[in-house]
Amino acid sequence: MEKKDIDWSNLGFGYIQTDKRFVSNFKDGAWDEGTLTSDANVVISECAGVLQYAQTCFEGLKAYTTEDGKIVCFRPDLNASRMKDSCERLEMPVFPEDRFVQAVVDVVKANAAYVPPYGSGATLYIRPYMFGSNPVIGVKPADEYQFRIFATPVGPYFKGGAKPITIRVCDYDRAAPHGTGHIKAGLNYAMSLYAIMDAHRQGFDENMYLDAATRTKVEETGGANFIFVTKDGKIVTPKSNSILPSITRRSLMYVAENILGMEVEQREVYFDEVKDMAECGLCGTAAVISPVGKINDHGKEICFPSGMEEMGPVTKKLYDALTGIQMGRMEAPEGWIKVIQ
Ligand code: PLP
Ligand code: COI
Repeated sequence: MEKKDIDWSNLGFGYIQTDKRFVSNFKDGAWDEGTLTSDANVVISECAGVLQYAQTCFEGLKAYTTEDGKIVCFRPDLNASRMKDSCERLEMPVFPEDRFVQAVVDVVKANAAYVPPYGSGATLYIRPYMFGSNPVIGVKPADEYQFRIFATPVGPYFKGGAKPITIRVCDYDRAAPHGTGHIKAGLNYAMSLYAIMDAHRQGFDENMYLDAATRTKVEETGGANFIFVTKDGKIVTPKSNSILPSITRRSLMYVAENILGMEVEQREVYFDEVKDMAECGLCGTAAVISPVGKINDHGKEICFPSGMEEMGPVTKKLYDALTGIQMGRMEAPEGWIKVIQ
């Protein structure tokens, strides 16, 4: 299979239309068999539930070319299961989890020419999503839905790749207690757009959201969970019911404890403790592990000892292990790697 003529090493995190995407429609209480299509456009009613009341959720995962030339993806079963949780919270029909994984495989296979080569620094980002498609004008769930998966080759989420970024403590909230922060609803991201543009206008790369109820505890950023390293080398990650249960974070915590033999802790993290941490990173499918060099709290700076030039040593260890597993350089825990071809 010949790869597309793309400058893989200089890709940003953007959309490039690929050849095929998966589409399945839900009507009269059932999903159809679904199909791969070349048509990248969606045609829906002007009154579709998604357009009026934002009834939509999504997932994000990646396909990688391994060192020995296979194409694999990372824990797609967990994306299927998280999408089920999102659908249930949004009164949407669940797309069966085994069919979700199969559709991911089909989309990656059909776009194999767009899976970036090993060592290029790029990956194929896979975006499953679902939305209410029939007319809805009173506030209620739609009766008809479309589930789609497209794929697009991407580079690093933050410009500069693994260079430490600067974030700020955000005055806007991302998710309410008992709200929808724990699912991957489009509405959570719409909520964050003003805050992220405001952060960018003020020269920051991302927002650190605090818990909406007390504004004393660290939650997450707009698109990633936090991982901290304490001065005595412990890995600490915030526990909260209003953050997205990141698959990358769960994987990293497992790897840290069971493969790297580190001490790990998932617990409430008070913002007051952050100034005493040795390292800080953002973790997620898009972010991988992006090191944070500096946090600006209303003009007061927290500068991590790892600095603004490179990832801290413990973050680097975690990064090497995670990407090693994903790219086939390191043995993966049972069931983590789905070989596509
Ligand atoms: N938190 C938010 C708000 C996200 O959008 C994402 C991205 O998916 C994550 C965390 C990281 O989750 P994952 O590691 O499953 O990609
Ligand atoms: C992902 O990491 O897959 C996400 O959905 C986060 C988003 C900021 C791109």
